[in-house]
Order: sequence, then structure tokens, then C-alpha cells
Amino acid sequence: MKIQKVVIIGTGGFGREALDVLEAINQVETQYDILGFVTEPGYHEPRELINEKPVLGYFDWLEHHKNEVRAICGVGAPAMRRRLIQQAEQLGVEFFSAVHPRTIQTRWVRMGAGSIITAGCILTNNITIGSHVHLNLDCTVGHDVVIEDFVTVSPGVHVSGNVRLEQGSFIGTGANLIEAITVGQWSVVGAGSVVVKDIPANTTAVGNPAKVIKTHKPGWHLE
Ligand SMILES: CC(C)(COP(=O)(O)OP(=O)(O)OC[C@H]1O[C@@H](n2cnc3c(N)ncnc32)[C@H](O)[C@@H]1OP(=O)(O)O)[C@@H](O)C(=O)NCCC(=O)NCCS
Repeated sequence: MKIQKVVIIGTGGFGREALDVLEAINQVETQYDILGFVTEPGYHEPRELINEKPVLGYFDWLEHHKNEVRAICGVGAPAMRRRLIQQAEQLGVEFFSAVHPRTIQTRWVRMGAGSIITAGCILTNNITIGSHVHLNLDCTVGHDVVIEDFVTVSPGVHVSGNVRLEQGSFIGTGANLIEAITVGQWSVVGAGSVVVKDIPANTTAVGNPAKVIKTHKPGWHLE
């Protein structure tokens, strides 16, 4: 197998967890030459080490190296992830997906570029996962679920069959979603919530049963 040179965009907690996923894949069979991290000014400085991997630089580094490397974005917040990915795509950067070896899935799962599945997730069949989706530790995803681009599913979430998570939605730790509901685009479901009916777009919903507590302006993710 050809070893790919790769970088992680984002130096925060989930950026390090993305590194964990790549290193776990390499332990099974070396697939990646993990060069390090790319960030924006104001976070880590170029040449700093994060879990033994260097901060390579900012987006100008990516621009210079776009033909040699592929990228994955380890920023958990959907809106910021979308912004950084669009910036990188405008430079011509290509993205790759990473699935932790301790994932259980069938061959009936389709997934777009740039998505990350961390350890302990279980995905059954006829599931569509878009691009740049994060499935954090120990989630279950049932049959016929659709998870659109830029969605973040936090640890320990149960997504029942036929659920649809629309673009940019964020599902908090330990939430449970009953079958066939839709979480609208750029909405937030609070940690521990039990979602028993559709959550409209651009809202925050919490509790058991989950109820909308905040309504945001359409386009709030662009602010
Ligand atoms: C839902 C959430 C986004 C709300 O954040 P927020 O918009 O800043 O809202 P606030 O903290 O102002 O809370 C508003 C009200 O909702 C309540 N609330 C907040 N989160 C709640 C939750 N998960 N379940 C039940 N009630 C919740 C608050 O107690 C508060 O109630 P009050 O008005 O009676 O005091 C946040 O609390 C949350 O659950 N985030 C998920 C975090 C997570 O899972 N991260 C994963 C990292 S890997």
C-alpha cells in the first residue's frame, strides 16, 4: 500500500484525537506519514510539538504543499470546521477520511471525504455519511441513517434507524435519538437529550424529551 503524506487541520482536543485515529490505523498497517498539524494564527505557533508532531504552519504552508499532502480537519465545532475546510478547498487541498480500526461497520456504509470515525462506533447498514462528519467515541448508528456534511456527533450518542442529521448539526454527548426523526441544519442537541420529534433547523434543543430553548437566525453559522 502506498503511504500517504497527511496533515491535520486544527490543534485542539479533537485535532489530537484525530491524530490518535491515524496512529491506531498505522498500528494495524502503516498507511500514513503523519507530517503534523496546520493551524491559524492565535492558537499554536509553527514548530511547536503537539503529542510529538510539529505544528507545520498556517494556511500558507498548506498552499505551498497542497500537491504533496492530503488533509483531515480535527476541529469539532461544525461551523468553524466548515470555514477552515472551505478555505483549504479554495487552495486546492484534498481531504481523506479516517476510520478507527475498532469501528464495527457493514459494507453498506457510504462515507464522503474528510470524515472521521473514532474508536468504538458501531454502524449497521444502508447508512450514508457525508463529507467532513465527525463520529466521536462509542456512538451507534442504525439502519438507513443519513448524516449530512459537517455534522458532529459527540461521544456515546445513539442514532436510531431512519434518522436524518442535516448539514452542520451538532449532537451533544450521550444524546439518544429515536427512529425516523430529523435534526435540522445547524441545530444543536444538548448533551444527554432524548430527541423524540423533529428538531427544526437553526435551533438549540435540550432535555428529555428534547425541547427547543433557543432559535437562531438562519445563517448563524456564518457569523
Ligand atoms: C445545549 C448547550 C449547547 C446549551 O448551551 P447554551 O446555548 O450556552 O445554553 P445555556 O448554557 O445558556 O443553557 C440554557 C438553559 O438550558 C439548560 N441546559 C443546557 N444544556 C442542557 C442539557 N444538555 N440538558 C438539559 N438542560 C440543559 C441550562 O441549564 C439552562 O437552563 P436555565 O435557563 O433554566 O438555567 C450545552 O449545554 C450542551 O449540552 N452542549 C453539548 C456539549 C457536548 O456534548 N460537547 C461534546 C464535546 S466532545
